[in-house]
Order: sequence, then C-alpha cells, then structure tokens
Amino acid sequence: MTDSTWWRQAAIYQIYPRSFKDSNGDGLGDINGITSKAEYLKSLSLDAVWLSPFYPSPLADGGYDVADYRNVDPRLGTLKDFDRMLKALHKVGIKVFVDIVPNHSSNQHAWFQEALKSPPGSPARDRYIFRDGKGKNGELPPNNWVSYFAPSAWTRTTNPDGTPGQWYLHLFAPEQPDFNWDNREVQLDFIKTLRFWSDRGVDGFRIDVAHAMKKDMSRINASYPKIDTFKVGNKGTDILFDRNETHEIFREWRTVFNEYDPPRVAVAEAYVAAPRRVLYARPDELGQAFNFDMLDLDFKAAAFKKTIDVNIKYAKEAGSSSTWVLNNHDRVRTATKYGLPDGTNLNEWLLSDGTSKQLNIELGLQRARAAVMMLLALPGCTYIYQGEELGLREVADLKHDDLQDPIWFRNVVKKIQPVFMKREGKTIKGVAVVHTEKGRDGCRVPLPWTRGGKSFGFGSNGSHLPQPSWFADCSVETQSESDDSTLAMYRSALALRQKWQTTEELEWIRTSNPEVVAFKRLNGWASFTNFRGVDFTLPKGRVLISSGPLKPGNTLPKATTVWMVLE
Ligand code: NOJ
Repeated sequence: MTDSTWWRQAAIYQIYPRSFKDSNGDGLGDINGITSKAEYLKSLSLDAVWLSPFYPSPLADGGYDVADYRNVDPRLGTLKDFDRMLKALHKVGIKVFVDIVPNHSSNQHAWFQEALKSPPGSPARDRYIFRDGKGKNGELPPNNWVSYFAPSAWTRTTNPDGTPGQWYLHLFAPEQPDFNWDNREVQLDFIKTLRFWSDRGVDGFRIDVAHAMKKDMSRINASYPKIDTFKVGNKGTDILFDRNETHEIFREWRTVFNEYDPPRVAVAEAYVAAPRRVLYARPDELGQAFNFDMLDLDFKAAAFKKTIDVNIKYAKEAGSSSTWVLNNHDRVRTATKYGLPDGTNLNEWLLSDGTSKQLNIELGLQRARAAVMMLLALPGCTYIYQGEELGLREVADLKHDDLQDPIWFRNVVKKIQPVFMKREGKTIKGVAVVHTEKGRDGCRVPLPWTRGGKSFGFGSNGSHLPQPSWFADCSVETQSESDDSTLAMYRSALALRQKWQTTEELEWIRTSNPEVVAFKRLNGWASFTNFRGVDFTLPKGRVLISSGPLKPGNTLPKATTVWMVLE
C-alpha cells in the first residue's frame, strides 16, 4: 500500500521555473535546468516541489496565462524533458506538483481564438464569458466590475470584419479571459488535463484562484466596485467569489484524484478568510488549502501565535492539515519585509525603488531565519519559495524598463502635471502616466548559483530579470562554504524536521515573556522563538539547532528561534 497521507506534513518547495536555472543560455530558466539541480533539491530534504506554470504562454502574467494546458513551453523544454525531470526528482525522493490555472486561459488559447472568430451566442463563445456592451452602440462595458490587475474587468472584442464587438470578462489582465465554469465542455477539459499530468506521474496540483471559478452572471447588473475577497462574507453567495457551487467542481476532481494510487493531492489557492478557505480543503475536495495569513503579519509574537491557533483549529475542523507560507512569487520577500519598520506600505516602498524607508538588512535576515524555523517546527505542511533558503531579499531597484509584471503596466493613472519640454526648454502642463504599483518582479529575479559568472551561474548568457551585485554573497556556492549560512540552516533544519516529524498535535508552552512563542510536539521536540523581547532563559534540554547564536547560559536573544528536546 502506498502512503496516501504523505502530504499532510510535507515540506514543499516552490520552483518558479523561468527563474530557477537556465540550461540552454537563453536567459530563461527551463525544465532541464530543474533536472540538473535534482541533487541540490535533495540536499534540502524536501518532500515535494511545486512548479509554477511552465506551459506554452505569451507571458502576459508570468505564465499564469496558459495557451495550452497539456504541453511545455518550447522555450522551457519538451514533454520528454518534463518526463525526464519527473523521473530524476522521483529518484531522489521528491514528489512533484504542477500548477493548474482553471479560472482563465491565455487569450492565445485555441478556444479563445475560436471564440473571437465565432458569432455571439455560439458554443465557442459559451466557453468564456462574453456579453454585449451598454450604451447606444455597446461602447460601454457591461458593468463596473474591476479586475485584480485594474482597471475594468471587461475588454471589448473586434469582430472578424473589423467592427467593434462584444465584451469579455477577465478578473485578471485582458490577456487572461475567464472561463465559463457552467459550461460542461470546460469542466471536462480540465478533467482531461488533470488525468494528462496524473498519468505522467505527477503527484499533486496547486489550484490557482480556486475561489473565483464560479460566478453568478444573472447578477450582471449588480455593482461590484472593489475586489476584496476577504470581505465577501461567508455565505457562499457573492457574485464573483467563493460561491458554494465551486465545491461541486472540486468534488468531481476528487473522484479523478482518487483513481490513482496514491491518490493525487491538491492545494487550493483560495484568497478568502480561514473559515471559508478550509472548505476547499475537505477530504472529498482538494484536501488542502494555502493559509496566507502570515504573509500579512509584522514580526510580532502575538499575531503569529493567534494565526497558528486559528489555522490549526480550522484545518482540523475540515479534516485537513494546516499549511504555512511566508514567501511566494506574489509577495515581497520576508528578509526584506522584516527589515523594514512595522506597517511599512510595501508597495510605496517598492515604488521608491527601496529608498523611502531604511531597510535593516541584518535584522530582516535574522527575523526571516527565526520565522521559518518556527514554521518548520509546526504541525502541518510548510511551503518554501525558491531563494528563501538563500535569504534572498526583494530586488527593489529593478529599472522600469526591466519590469514584466502586468501589475506594473496596468496600474497607472494619468495626471496633469508640470512637464518639462526639452525642445522648447520650458515647463508646461502635460499629461504624465504615473504607475501606482510596482508589482512582483522583485521576488522573481533568477537564483544565484555561483559567486561569479555572467548571471551568477543561473545560465551562460544573462538572465531575463537583472540580478543585483549583492547576489554574489547569497549564491549557493558562497553559502555552501559556510556552516553559518542561511542555506546551511535550511538544510540542517529541514533534515532535522524530517527526523523529528511526528503526529499533528501541538502543545503550547507558557512563558512569562509575551514576545516568546513556544510550543512542543508530543515527542518532546520543542521550538522557542523570541520575537523582539528581552533575552529569554531557556528551560533545561538539548539544543538541536538555532537560527542564530544563543547567548551564554542558554539564553535566547531576540529575533532567534531554537529547537530543543526538553529534559
Ligand atoms: C495567483 C498567482 O499566484 C498569480 O501569480 C497570478 O497572477 C494570479 N493567480 C492569476 O493567475
């Protein structure tokens, strides 16, 4: 019998393929690059990796605009390369998740292209969400709904004869038209995709925007001015998000997952509050859901403790295990976030190219190390994002010309302001385009593997996003030479975690210091984190590892985590 519960307390490493390792010198990470790093991944004692999309894509949203769900982007390799990679990772004991993007496709997907060529009301259009516009000649969007990537969630089409046509819905960029999940053909095609990858031997799936797939289009005339999925209430009857019928889709998917041995596993990206999020994680649905609550926390004990309690409670209620995430490809890296003053508006800081507030590099890294060590000791599954094991910071000063994220391109306002006209040598009033969000490229810069070389060993010919010179000190090569490096800490902690992993219970340890979060597992494995309090005297026991040096007399300084076996 194969273990069907392996995922409940797994350490899963997220690979952003285009930025992991480039094997053919085209500046883009690829599948063979991943294969070449199988031993590196093994050295981290991981249970699985999750690959962000590697499918054919025009890259309007870093690959989350998929043009063909059952293929590999030719720039990243072939299906044969994929099979080889899968085999190589399985050989070193690492399972593989792929990303399924079911809410929307690319506008270059064959179905969307077919829809554009087909008349309103045709079966080809019914796979997406096309509607007539408002106004005399349909020149206004059907309603005021906004997209995540702002501004309108509707884009008008052009008919094959060149006249303006219907509008289509896209909750993200215009290049990402939303599917109509009431359409059976759409439903069946995704089942085909799940079987396609499962048959190849893929072990699990990460489900993108799982909470948005079903919409109530009968309420198209209702106003929906601002997207905030955490506030949509908990009845499952919102127009656009977290609708109860969504769960029917996942119940059907579960029957597909269970056709395999061991059953394929899945994790939902469902951006809704904890009590609703765990519905996606029920055993007869996806089985697990990302808990993103920690991504929004300042480095403070009380907030972390509460988040841990809440998530363990709800995961248990759903029959799932809890999940812990500090970093991913959508968020400012923790080594940066924790080095900025509490409450810093990260978007504003990024827009200032990292100059509006002083970054304390040392403190940020120290805290990031302490936080992840605490996470790794918790019961449940931990997701690690590539580069966090190197303590990478956000690359905040990427030049505007280098940016790729649609969030940068689409969040703009036109402002009338003084503009200096060079030719006439005077200042006049003009319209300037002002970007209001810098986007997510700063956490997607290709990994540094070596201390030197054109792209720090990422590839032989540069990298698709420029790497800063400080990457040299963070490289795998540099860090492999030191026992104190962040990489060395991740390697040791992950190996120890595998050894000490036990049943899913957690017992809080009371301390008199409110800035200390301490807990133990039933086998005596204990974790103490001093967030920002005065030095804390540890109880008697054997120290397994600490995220930074302890002080004499078994004293835990602030911004440090220690694992112990208590006496
Ligand atoms: C969530 C993904 O993590 C993000 O990168 C992407 O832009 C959106 N979903 C749209 O697919």
